[in-house]
Amino acid sequence: MKTFELHESGVRSYCRSFPVVFKQARGAELITREGKHYIDFLAGAGTLNYGHNHPVLKQALLDYIEADGITHGLDMYSEAKETFLSTFDRLILKPRNMDYIMQFTGPTGTNAVEAALKLARKVTGRNNVISFTNGFHGCSIGALAATGNKHHRGAAGVPLTDVSRMPYANYFGDKVNTIAMMDKLLTDPSSGIDKPAAVIVEVVQGEGGLNAASAEWVRKLEKLCRKHEMLLIVDDIQAGCGRTGTFFSFEEMGIKPDMITLSKSLSGYGLPFAMVLLRKELDQWKPGEHNGTFRGNNHAFVTAAAAIEHFWKDNAFADSVKAKGKRIADGMNKIVRRYGPDSLFVKGRGMMIGISCPDGDTAAAICRHAFENGLVIETSGAHSEVVKCLCPLIISEEQIDKAMSILDKAFAAVMSDQAATQVS
Ligand SMILES: Cc1ncc(COP(=O)(O)O)c(C=O)c1O
Repeated sequence: MKTFELHESGVRSYCRSFPVVFKQARGAELITREGKHYIDFLAGAGTLNYGHNHPVLKQALLDYIEADGITHGLDMYSEAKETFLSTFDRLILKPRNMDYIMQFTGPTGTNAVEAALKLARKVTGRNNVISFTNGFHGCSIGALAATGNKHHRGAAGVPLTDVSRMPYANYFGDKVNTIAMMDKLLTDPSSGIDKPAAVIVEVVQGEGGLNAASAEWVRKLEKLCRKHEMLLIVDDIQAGCGRTGTFFSFEEMGIKPDMITLSKSLSGYGLPFAMVLLRKELDQWKPGEHNGTFRGNNHAFVTAAAAIEHFWKDNAFADSVKAKGKRIADGMNKIVRRYGPDSLFVKGRGMMIGISCPDGDTAAAICRHAFENGLVIETSGAHSEVVKCLCPLIISEEQIDKAMSILDKAFAAVMSDQAATQVS
């Protein structure tokens, strides 16, 4: 580890939980330079929905590079971009009756969020934006202002302004209607909430602890946006690209967001790539007004188009995600029943699920134990209390079962240690 400790900034984080040197990766497996195999339940924090080095995507990229295809072309027209635009329109937007313009932003999720917030403010002429408790939207200043997490916000160095935080679905439990609460605040001219340009929301909160909003809550949120003339931005950076069992996390809820942010698994291959989908009327940018050298990544255009063509031409892949999500949920529910029916519970939706533990120390100990036995898995949540499964969607049933057995042993060890401490 010496080289990393000597030369790499202290800001590095995941490597602290998984202190080995990885050399290769295939499908749902990571392999260290010593040849030890790990099942990957982190998958680049949701970036590798189609697994590591998927052969179809790899071949498309190799062919493109071999033919001296454009690697970088600013935002000039390229064949790779043309293919991506038409493939995404044909296989993702059109079949879902969605009519959006695609804006390519800088390459990471926070760039897409910045662009969406900036455009919402430009179009409406208002500063304020509503975001939610436990929401995570990125670490650049505009996106960070919309992010709840204290650890990240603490490093901003400047005031994080122009965002009003509202309680997410079920933040106060089932009985408190947070939509009615927002409606009252937005209706009252003396509530102190400036009329917002937009609401930005994750339909399942990834970093915030796998809080899944109900379809009813999301539909009511859309109505609230229409009533108060706020744009609805769905941040689908983590929950999109098939993670919840449909391409978009909100697909079966019947809403039509004004903007949608996508990144992470959009390239399909782990390449940096981010995009905002905009309702046509909102595309009020002047040429180059929101700029960036790496807007649109041609290698990512190639792998993204190949991924969409391969996985989204029919329903088979989405159906397999739903089935695997159920298999993981069944495995997790078994663990909960065995080791903590009163203190553990399963949270999330589709293949974005995890087990909520009594506290962050317990969850961290479980992840450490799992790692020692060959499973890369991380936590999320306000107190890092949720052991979070974010495995590649192409994972096999055997790998799921193996991972569940590693997790079972980890919960057995950590929960029995805790019970012993409490007795003594
Ligand atoms: C919902 C959501 N939005 C935005 C981001 C920020 O993306 P990035 O880390 O690529 O900037 C993340 C990252 O985890 C995310 O989960």
